[in-house]
This record gives sequence, C-alpha cells and structure tokens, in this order.
Amino acid sequence: MHEEEIKSVVDALLKARHVAVLTGSGISAESGIPTFRGADGLWKKFRAEELATPEAFRKRPQLVWEWYAYRRQIISSAGPNPGHFALAEMQRWFPQFTLITQNVDGLHQAAGSEGVLELHGNIFIDRCASCGREESVMGRPIQMSGPPKCSCGGLIRPGVVWFGESLPAGVLEKAMAAARSAEVFFSIGTSALVYPAAALPEMAGESGAMVVEINPETTPLSGRVDVSLRASAASVLPKIVEKYKTVTSA
Ligand code: OAD
Repeated sequence: MHEEEIKSVVDALLKARHVAVLTGSGISAESGIPTFRGADGLWKKFRAEELATPEAFRKRPQLVWEWYAYRRQIISSAGPNPGHFALAEMQRWFPQFTLITQNVDGLHQAAGSEGVLELHGNIFIDRCASCGREESVMGRPIQMSGPPKCSCGGLIRPGVVWFGESLPAGVLEKAMAAARSAEVFFSIGTSALVYPAAALPEMAGESGAMVVEINPETTPLSGRVDVSLRASAASVLPKIVEKYKTVTSA
C-alpha cells in the first residue's frame, strides 16, 4: 500500500537539508486522544465558544477549568504512538528539522522530539489570567476542581491558545520561516481549517517545498499537495522511516 507515494517522499527526503512538519490532533488519535472535528471529535459533543474562549473562562471559570482537567486526565494516561516516534527519529537525519504542532498534549516531546514549536500552547501549563505567571504541572496530580488562585489573587487557566487569542510570541514567526525554507513539508493529522496554522503548508508550497499530506480523510489542502498519503500517521510514518533507512544503509 502507498509504495509509490512513499518512494517519492523518500527520494525527496534523501536530497533535503531542511524538513518541516505540521501536526494536528490526528497524529495523537492512535494514542487514544480524541480529535476535534472527526466522528468522535470534541467539537461534535461540546461547543468551542463555551469552553475554549477567554469570554467562556470569564463567565464560567469552573466549567472551563473542569473541561481542561478532564482533557488533562485523558492525555496523561496516553503515550506517544509509532507516528510520534517516527518523527523523533527523522529529526536526526537532517541538518535542520522543524516540528510545528497544533497539539497541546506534549506527546512529541515524550517521544523524544526536540525544539517542538507548540503553536497552541501546552495543556500542562498553568497560567495566571491576571499576572501571566506560568508554571508547568506536568507529572503532578491533576487538580480536578478549580480554577485555583495565583498568589496575586488572579485565576489560574490552562496555558493553551483559545479562539480569539494570539499565538505565543515568536512561535508563529519561527514556524513561518521554517515553512518558507523547508524543502519537504509534511501536514499530518490536521483538518487544515484553523488559521494561521493552516496557512503554513500553503506557504511552504509557494516557496517550492514538496508538500506531503498524511491523513485518512481529504481536507481543503488535499487538492493542492504534491503527495497525498491517505493513511493513518501511525501506520505510514514508520514505513517512511523504514524505507529511508533501507535506502541509506544500502
Ligand atoms: P481536527 O479535529 O480539526 O482534525 C483532525 C484531522 O486528523 C482530521 O482531518 C482527521 O481526518 C485526521 N486524522 C484522524 N485520525 C488520524 C490518524 N490516525 N492519522 C492521521 N490523521 C488522522 O484537529 P486539528 O486540525 O488539530 O485549536 O485542529 C486544529 C485546531 O482546532 C486545534 O489545535 C484546536 C482545535 O480547535 C485550539 O484549541 C485553539
């Protein structure tokens, strides 16, 4: 399955010096973390504007806190899958490798990826909504009721980007620079609907990169990519790694 597409991707990787990757919730689906817009997607059951906006937190801080505590629970019982591990291995092959993620689950880092650009923040960061103080709560017991209060008196919120908020300073700039300079750009497990992340593959294509999409479903990006691998990330990424290693050790 997908032999020809995998061969053309590996041929491009063999010549590449800078590879960039954009991931979305689909790469963590096989770790047991629900996506946002799939059949069992979170935004099919919950309303984003009631849970993932600054206004929602102002109006119902307890509800928003509890929803993120529930997601922290799901994520903390999950681990990286072969798709995450394949990307961590690929990082070692190129002088420059930029991994950009919309995910807040930290599973790329858990798989060993370094320098990950987290466009939408990280769910295991507590941030004060008043003074902005941040603290990592990764590995700590999950506080299910809240929100707790900061020493300044402000309410603590999760360190993720909500609808209507700006992306973390500098992260988007680095991601755009990577999209413009990469020779191969992967868009993996994302519906390519949420901007500005969705602009990155387009930007890479316009700058001459080979754009490869890995997704079992079609997306608005699918018609504009060079290679479309209609498969799950955890099944196809290890095949790319295997093929590359076979060719380079031959
Ligand atoms: P979506 O839920 O919008 O899209 C997930 C994509 O993953 C879909 O296109 C699926 O077809 C695909 N998919 C599902 N299983 C897969 C698998 N095993 N391998 C590969 N692909 C698979 O999630 P995102 O694109 O990540 O933002 O959503 C973007 C942003 O919207 C999120 O970061 C979040 C959300 O609202 C914020 O919360 C700010």
